[in-house]
Amino acid sequence: PVPVIIDCDTGIDDALALLFAVRHPGIDLRAVTCVAGNTDVDQVVRNTLTVLDQAGAPELPVARGAERPLIEPARPAAHVHGRDGMGDIGLSAPTDRMPVDVDAVTLLRREILGSPRPVTLVPIAPLTNIALLLRTYPEVTRNIERIVFMGGAVEIGNATPVAEFNVWHDPEAAAILLSAGVPITMYGLDVFRRVVVPWADVQRLSASAEPGARLAGRLLAHRDPAATGDPTPTGSLGDAGAVCAVADPAGLTTSLLPVEVSLTPGPTRGQTVVDRRPRPGESEIHHGTREKPLVDVALDVGVERYVKLY
Ligand code: BDR
Ligand code: CA
Repeated sequence: PVPVIIDCDTGIDDALALLFAVRHPGIDLRAVTCVAGNTDVDQVVRNTLTVLDQAGAPELPVARGAERPLIEPARPAAHVHGRDGMGDIGLSAPTDRMPVDVDAVTLLRREILGSPRPVTLVPIAPLTNIALLLRTYPEVTRNIERIVFMGGAVEIGNATPVAEFNVWHDPEAAAILLSAGVPITMYGLDVFRRVVVPWADVQRLSASAEPGARLAGRLLAHRDPAATGDPTPTGSLGDAGAVCAVADPAGLTTSLLPVEVSLTPGPTRGQTVVDRRPRPGESEIHHGTREKPLVDVALDVGVERYVKLY
């Protein structure tokens, strides 16, 4: 199995991602780190521990990370994920699990450098923890196989017309991630929204006697686009699709493209500008500007393939 660390802001679809990562035989979930995003970081830690319990996860380290982005204040998404970040479905099962007594950046460094095999890092949240890690301990990149992150959009945004929430929440952190110098896969909104579990399967999961499967069903059933105004459809795997992309990379069609995050204040802030021109960068080279990082951008996804896998 692939050694994986998930950085999350649990979060309805982060919970779906954790449930899958814990149970998939091809994934060896080594640690989970938490960051402010969908909800505040302490609530993220609580939600994460509860979900790991319900997933029947073995003991594994969970750490609290950044409570706000590098520059801006936190802007939680209660309108999408509810007050408790988990859709207010009444999930508050007591848990004996505790976070480790070191912060997320310290745990990430320890787990990455201590792993006998290079680690695949899967951030499915604002990239604050990852940016702090890369700036504090740049040597970690020598034992990172690749980074598969949920964030960004080639086409249409969600937090703004052009910006996806995770990148929009901490654009500077996302820019630091893109220049990490390790292979990066961008699992953006273009594929994120498309992997939708049919309603009959959602109901079947919700009725399962197995707690992890039942929770997955309840979370998949939660989103009501009419009520939330969120265009992500009910039954969407969301962040869990990024973990599917680690378990089954061939289900994703990607293209290696230059990507830049817009950092300027105003309507484009947080946009991932993906250069899809046939001969990208020619004009920049011509004008003598610096090359942009190349990222494996997900352009298409085997929807049924990932639904079945999940
Ligand atoms: C991303 O933002 C959060 O609401 C989801 O958990 C996902 O990581 C989608 O834009
Ligand atoms: Ca998330």
